[in-house]
Amino acid sequence: MKSIEVLLLSRNDVVELGLAPSKVVSVVEDALREHAAGTYEMHPKIGVHPTGTDPANFIHAMPAYLRRLGACGLKWVAGFAQNYQRDLPNVTGLQVYNDTATGIPLAVMDCSYLTGLRTAAVSAIIARRSVVSGARTLALVGCGFEGSMHLRFLVDQIPTLKQIRLRDIRPTAMAAMKDRVSSEFQGDVILCEDNESCVKDADLITTCTNGDEQIIRPEWFKQGAFGVGIEGGCAYTAEALHQADKFIVDDVALAEYFDKIGRARLTADGQPDPEFPGGMPPIYATIGEIVAGTKPARDSDQERIVALPIGMAICDIALAHLAYHTALTRKVGQTFRLV
Ligand SMILES: NC(=O)c1ccc[n+]([C@@H]2O[C@H](COP(=O)([O-])OP(=O)(O)OC[C@H]3O[C@@H](n4cnc5c(N)ncnc54)[C@H](O)[C@@H]3O)[C@@H](O)[C@H]2O)c1
Repeated sequence: MKSIEVLLLSRNDVVELGLAPSKVVSVVEDALREHAAGTYEMHPKIGVHPTGTDPANFIHAMPAYLRRLGACGLKWVAGFAQNYQRDLPNVTGLQVYNDTATGIPLAVMDCSYLTGLRTAAVSAIIARRSVVSGARTLALVGCGFEGSMHLRFLVDQIPTLKQIRLRDIRPTAMAAMKDRVSSEFQGDVILCEDNESCVKDADLITTCTNGDEQIIRPEWFKQGAFGVGIEGGCAYTAEALHQADKFIVDDVALAEYFDKIGRARLTADGQPDPEFPGGMPPIYATIGEIVAGTKPARDSDQERIVALPIGMAICDIALAHLAYHTALTRKVGQTFRLV
């Protein structure tokens, strides 16, 4: 029997691959087109919930297969929001990348950096198609790892931005973000002391928090604004979420599943903690349908649009495929003999 060598990629190895936003966006757009075409296999995330340190803790299993790309595998990813108190990342985990012809595992890699790339890419892909023409103002709430990835991809994909307003409950996170962004963004970067001064009247509102606070109020969400959030609808008040003219998700089954489990969830102090405050609004489109061109994102400069991508395993596997082949070409990582 032949031996099986598995490629191992640490987080530093994945970072060293230097995957550029334009390449990542193009690969994720293709995965979204496959989603629209139905040439994939994916299931709503199942998981376990060790809630000792935070009621929202999760570890999710996310298998995926993209038929056209020829990529399959599994992400096993944890989100533990209190980890910063132990100087550990919130999101950690492993991505397994399998061979579609034999099923054998070809690679095991860190999934945290790839998750940042894919989540920011999806947000930027839908933002580019949904913001008003000439969008100038970005409000970014939540300046952690995902926030910094989002800033990089949004600045890359929406070149009309002239002002970035940052907000975080941790002032040090905001200040560090401002330092980092000044090298890649030439416009104004403003640190905001409260949610209103950040969010009110922004053209593009991006939330990358842990979802503990309903931040977006309806009176701050102006006509023509676009909002994208990665904490389900948890950063929106029910009124702000339900006044949107269009509500976009990444996957209908995933959104419905998270709506269902959110209905039973409670906060640390025993309050209801729904995934979509006020219930899940009627879905206008998936991001894949908009990327494939079967539905337009924006029909007028007056529309308020909200997109809430829950996070799709098919986008992770598309980037794992890219990372694996780039690592082979560049001879990054090490192998171990599995069989
Ligand atoms: N939808 C998706 O596809 C997807 C993908 C990855 C991560 N996530 C989620 O995104 C969230 C952020 O992940 P991360 O890795 O950036 O975590 P992180 O801990 O690095 O960053 C979160 C940041 O939000 C800030 N924050 C928390 N509450 C806030 C509030 N009320 N107002 C302003 N700022 C606030 C924190 O201080 C922190 O800086 C997690 O909840 C994670 O589960 C979603």
